[in-house]
Amino acid sequence: MASRRKVLKAGCRTAAYGMPLLFGLPAACRAVAGCETMSTAVDARPMKDQAEKRGLLFGTAADRDPLEYDPRYAQTLLAECAMVTPENSMKWERLRPTPDSFDFANADWMVDFAETNGLLIHGHTLVWHLQMPGWFDSHVDASNVEAVMSRHIGTVAGRYVGRLRSWDVVNEAINPDDGRGDALRLSPWLERLGPGYIDLAFHKAAETDPKAIRVYNDFGVEYEGRWYEDRRRSILDLLTGMVARGVPIDALGIQSHLSADLAPDFRRFGSFLSDVADLGLDLMITELDVRDHKLPADVIERDCRVAATYRAYLDVVLDQPRLRSITVWGLSDRYSWLVEFEPRDDGNPVRPLLFDHEMKRKPAWNAIANALGNQ
Ligand code: XIL
Repeated sequence: MASRRKVLKAGCRTAAYGMPLLFGLPAACRAVAGCETMSTAVDARPMKDQAEKRGLLFGTAADRDPLEYDPRYAQTLLAECAMVTPENSMKWERLRPTPDSFDFANADWMVDFAETNGLLIHGHTLVWHLQMPGWFDSHVDASNVEAVMSRHIGTVAGRYVGRLRSWDVVNEAINPDDGRGDALRLSPWLERLGPGYIDLAFHKAAETDPKAIRVYNDFGVEYEGRWYEDRRRSILDLLTGMVARGVPIDALGIQSHLSADLAPDFRRFGSFLSDVADLGLDLMITELDVRDHKLPADVIERDCRVAATYRAYLDVVLDQPRLRSITVWGLSDRYSWLVEFEPRDDGNPVRPLLFDHEMKRKPAWNAIANALGNQ
């Protein structure tokens, strides 16, 4: 078995380096990587239709650049998605050039694009510790922080009242590694406003746009191991407290930046999702992608393993009756944030998403379609 695997893997490399695809090598490679169910999709209709069949929304993150200048990308997005998350244009860094001003140019462009094309919009994000403007640290202290946060949420959520389906109200507030008993991250918000900042943000969002679904969004809950287990427990504790205090929260957003080199055991993750749903909260997958930067170079093998990761993950997630949406963090490998954020040591382009550089569907697309169709 081991030697057969070796031979076939060598064949995968040959195929990936552009040698003539003789002797059916790609098929053999697909077999060795367990890719039979990913080489074709039983149902080839657009992903949004396949998700809808299961009562789910399918969406992607995207931004004006490249949507505006790459028509193939825009067409793919409109064909496949029912919802869009502005990837960067609603973050503080982009919206807040100075303490007293707002720049809505790109956020407005995204909202117009979505509305013109009948897409739902998931807002991202009202309160986060990253991508903050440079002026924040020097301008904001304990005396004005509540007013600054409240004005931001009131102005931003207020501008789009009734037009966004949902908002990530608070993003990534948990970090057990920071050593606090409540596992809250030592963020600029926590340091200035104290642990109550999360509840405050949700109350302000509810007051401003009562009908938008309010989401707490976080990462690092999917895999086995102590680090993930601590994060799951801490997030569950946070949500339990919020629900007990009557904070107006509707859903947990689970980012799910997965890695194809980690063992795809998502059983404990499944129980965690059930525990969250038992609190009366909905579940949204908000930033799904699969890193391949640690896999061998062979493209066929990489695509298979990425697809297999999507499949194993979705088989667990799709069991959840309170799951409402699946959003991928970009559609095409050409524009993934991982191109810059998690490049490969060998210099080959990363392939974490559903469409390749030419907007062609990949095994990952087939895997998701087949998971949605129970095939
Ligand atoms: C990322 C964007 O995709 C990048 O373009 C940007 O440079 C950094 O942020 N978790 C989040 C997202 O909540 O906002 C991040 O998006 C990815 C990780």
